Amino acid sequence: MKSKASAPGKVILFGEHFVVYGVKAILCAINKRVTVSAEKIKEEKISIKSNIGDLLLEPNKPISEINSSLKPFYYLANKILQTQNQDIGIKINVESDIPMGVGLGSSSACCVAGAAAISKLFAEPSKEEILELAIEAEKTIFQNTSGADCTVCTYGGIMEYDKKNGFTEIKSEPSFHLVIVNSNVEHSTESVVAGVRRFKEENEGEFSKLCNYESKLVKDVSKLLKENKIKELGQKVIQNQEYLETIGISNEKLREIIRIGDKVSFGAKITGAGGGGCIFALTDELNLEHTISQFKNRNYKYFAAKIDFKGLDTF
Ligand code: PMV
Repeated sequence: MKSKASAPGKVILFGEHFVVYGVKAILCAINKRVTVSAEKIKEEKISIKSNIGDLLLEPNKPISEINSSLKPFYYLANKILQTQNQDIGIKINVESDIPMGVGLGSSSACCVAGAAAISKLFAEPSKEEILELAIEAEKTIFQNTSGADCTVCTYGGIMEYDKKNGFTEIKSEPSFHLVIVNSNVEHSTESVVAGVRRFKEENEGEFSKLCNYESKLVKDVSKLLKENKIKELGQKVIQNQEYLETIGISNEKLREIIRIGDKVSFGAKITGAGGGGCIFALTDELNLEHTISQFKNRNYKYFAAKIDFKGLDTF
């Protein structure tokens, strides 16, 4: 028996980092996906194949001993095998068209699609159960995750998220396009988040003001999204980028890309942890091609994305 699931990547439109301290963030799923297939095998092994490498291990190894970015899949397969009274193994295959390690939710999409594909070999879990499992798996690589990424990868669409209340779907279908540009600068979410924590500890007053500004901005954004006011949303993108500059997650390379984006689109900002990774430029149909051409002419790695409304898909 084989089961298959796919989940989209995501961008954080507004509120990254501040979300860690309880502020609302706005995220959307994008039309780039990870597909995971899983099957039971007779051999008592967990076998994972992917375009970034393979892993073949016996079950029941302590997760701390596994030094591989495929660790979340091992965690999921092992956890699910432990609940079964069968001497079997699981074979997993991962295919992804989401660029990795650049803040586009590739690991969350892997955890969500992995949790769905593997658990569906034995049961019919609900989306909520799959999400819970996916967040657990994501914690094996990023202990302090807010859970926001896995949530949007599971449900798709556009949503508000905060740590206390979880997610609220934003029901409108805004007509923007995102041009996502990769800075090609590697970053570690964990160390950038730790840097922001240091900034907060050294500047409690300023950080708390920024959290208030960000909360207000997100409130305005929710309204603008419902009204499909893309130009005004662009102004909020620019404003949010200023807050991110203040907390120290930007750098010269990112600022250079954002300057190009700001000239041709409605506004550009970092998406995700920063320190490297990606930026997005907000456009509509009319300035999409021109925005793309500016990044293309300068040989940047980029792609245009739309909102994915499907979320987790199982088949
Ligand atoms: O994983 P990334 O790069 O998309 O961004 C993480 C977002 C943070 O707000 C910085 C951390 C979090 O857990 O929400």
